[in-house]
Amino acid sequence: MSSVDRTRSFPAQLLLAVLLLLSAAGLTRATDDAQPDIERKLEEGDYSRRGADTCIACHDEEGPFPTLEVFRTVHGHPAVPGSPFEMRSAATPPAGLQCEACHGPIGRHGRPILAEGALREPVLNFGAGGNADPEVQNGLCLTCHANHERAHWTGSVHEEAGLACADCHRIHAATDPVRTKAAQAQVCTSCHRHVAADALKRSSHPMRENQLICRDCHDPHGSAGEALTVDATTNDTCLGCHAELRGPFLWEHPPAVEDCAICHAPHGSNQPALLVRRAPQLCQGCHSSAGHRSIPQVAAQLPPGPASEFLIAQACLNCHTEVHGSNHPSGGYLRR
Ligand code: HEC
Ligand code: HEC
Ligand code: HEC
Ligand code: HEC
Ligand code: HEC
Ligand code: HEC
Ligand code: HEC
Ligand code: HEC
Ligand code: HEC
Ligand code: HEC
Repeated sequence: MSSVDRTRSFPAQLLLAVLLLLSAAGLTRATDDAQPDIERKLEEGDYSRRGADTCIACHDEEGPFPTLEVFRTVHGHPAVPGSPFEMRSAATPPAGLQCEACHGPIGRHGRPILAEGALREPVLNFGAGGNADPEVQNGLCLTCHANHERAHWTGSVHEEAGLACADCHRIHAATDPVRTKAAQAQVCTSCHRHVAADALKRSSHPMRENQLICRDCHDPHGSAGEALTVDATTNDTCLGCHAELRGPFLWEHPPAVEDCAICHAPHGSNQPALLVRRAPQLCQGCHSSAGHRSIPQVAAQLPPGPASEFLIAQACLNCHTEVHGSNHPSGGYLRR
């Protein structure tokens, strides 16, 4: 061995030793290691010739991650136009690229025999084991899914928070929990725990029973509204179901026109009717009751005989029943 060879191999060995130490100590994340390789592979586009058969030789139901259930989904169906498993002769890539439509080109990942000590070349992975930035992962999905349903994805809070499609979607499962009524809330509240807590409060939308699910009010892929509401405003979202409160009213109550969430907590509250506070405090947040007949009178001021209607202390709603607005000709002061 010449001296030149030795000086070359020494740093390489050192690097390998350092890498092994780091990974043994759990100090490297897969992402840090694999990202450049994955990006290079996507550029090179070295796809396998035999498609899924190549992969299944190593990744089947016996492996640590059973892969074959993907054939029970639309993605694994040859008759679905544009799907990864569309018949190759009819498909326009990435359709027809099979497993590699999502996982990217195999490159040297599938080498049956590796040189001693060599690491298997990585292939793009998603979800908990994701080994590339969410942007790269999502890019693969969006080559096929950048349609009107995802029009608001870019710039949405979920995209900006670095969520990957695979944080919500289970691709290899015959049923994807996030798209079922029964399990969606569980997926969403795995991150948004306080919403699960709100749904357990005394007054709530029927979310515990999954009669109403997150998707009824939110579009997880982004929306024109704030807080990912399905419609552009909170009010339009609420009024989609509570249409009787839409108005227009002869006698309007401005906060109800402005934003239902001024008075209601959409996920649940310990006050009746999802209220953020109880009347009269709720109302008194905006209205002064000085001099108003809602102020209880001291005993000395009470007239003899049955109590007058004006003594129903503080209970604004006993008189002002139509807090959302009234169409009664004499509905001024929201009283009928
Ligand atoms: C439509 C996209 C898509 C297709 C097609 C697809 N996968 Fe996946 N694959 C994923 C996603 C997303 C995950 C992450 C886990 C999940 O969501 O279920 C994954 C996870 C995996 C894993 C687990 C890696 C690990 O240990 O974390 C393996 C192995 C795998 N896929 C192999 C395959 C094979 C083999 C095929 C073809 C038969 C295939 N995939 C087809 C999207 C896809
Ligand atoms: C020769 C066997 C072999 C073949 C062929 C093979 N893999 Fe792998 N694959 C592995 C092994 C082993 C791992 C475990 C990780 C390691 O050892 O680096 C793995 C890991 C993975 C992972 C997890 C991410 C990673 O890089 O660690 C995914 C996803 C994956 N393979 C998908 C595929 C797909 C898709 C194909 C076909 C295009 C394929 N594999 C072909 C052996 C193989
Ligand atoms: C090669 C194109 C292609 C790729 C890549 C792809 N999909 Fe799909 N996907 C489809 C087609 C085609 C359908 C069926 C028609 C539709 O719903 O748009 C589909 C359907 C879906 C559905 C609905 C499933 C159903 O049962 O209706 C989800 C969710 C989905 N894809 C998520 C993903 C995610 C997440 C990724 C990335 C990991 C991904 N897809 C990658 C083509 C693709
Ligand atoms: C925060 C969770 C979440 C994330 C992140 C997410 N989705 Fe979804 N996705 C859902 C839910 C919930 C549904 C069910 C929507 C419905 O019932 O209309 C859905 C439905 C779908 C569907 C089928 C119906 C449709 O809209 O076409 C596709 C395809 C899809 N998602 C693709 C994607 C892709 C691609 C990404 C990444 C860019 C992504 N999703 C990210 C939660 C998510
Ligand atoms: C009845 C409609 C409705 C349902 C059902 C609903 N939300 Fe909301 N959600 C809203 C509205 C409206 C807002 C905005 C409230 C505001 O402006 O204060 C919101 C706000 C949010 C926020 C941001 C504010 C906060 O409280 O952190 C998150 C996160 C959220 N919802 C998650 C969820 C999840 C997860 C589910 C399902 C378990 C769900 N929502 C079900 C209507 C709903
Ligand atoms: C992997 C974790 C994760 C999952 C799963 C997830 N989210 Fe989120 N979501 C976030 C993050 C992070 C944000 C950014 C704002 C924050 O920190 O609350 C966010 C923001 C939101 C907001 C807007 C908050 C605002 O103030 O604008 C809503 C609404 C929301 N998510 C609903 C959902 C729904 C509905 C689902 C299920 C379909 C879901 N999320 C699943 C992590 C997640
Ligand atoms: C997808 C339909 C749907 C949407 C959207 C919706 N709701 Fe509801 N709402 C319901 C259902 C169903 C009930 C339960 C009715 C029942 O129990 O009779 C309900 C009940 C209520 C109640 C009465 C709760 C009680 O304890 O009496 C209030 C208040 C309410 N919703 C406010 C809102 C507000 C505010 C919004 C917007 C943030 C909204 N709703 C959006 C379906 C919806
Ligand atoms: C100024 C505060 C306030 C605003 C704003 C408001 N509400 Fe209410 N809402 C109430 C009060 C107070 C009750 C309880 C009424 C009762 O107990 O008689 C109520 C009750 C309800 C109920 C239960 C059924 C009913 O009619 O009594 C629904 C549904 C409802 N509100 C929906 C909405 C919607 C949708 C919006 C937005 C368009 C909205 N609210 C805006 C104060 C408000
Ligand atoms: C977010 C502030 C806000 C809250 C909370 C609020 N209101 Fe109002 N309310 C207003 C405004 C603004 C007006 C319009 C005042 C005007 O036209 O001079 C108004 C008007 C009224 C009127 C008089 C209508 C008229 O014709 O002059 C009544 C009665 C009323 N509110 C009752 C209530 C009751 C009862 C509650 C509690 C359930 C309540 N308000 C909660 C802001 C609020
Ligand atoms: C006993 C019935 C009654 C109760 C209880 C009541 N109000 Fe009134 N309120 C009225 C009547 C009647 C008017 C019509 C104006 C008048 O005659 O002074 C009125 C008028 C109003 C107005 C219009 C502005 C004004 O002061 O003239 C507001 C705002 C108002 N009430 C808010 C409230 C609030 C907030 C509560 C609870 C703290 C409440 N009311 C409780 C009967 C009641």
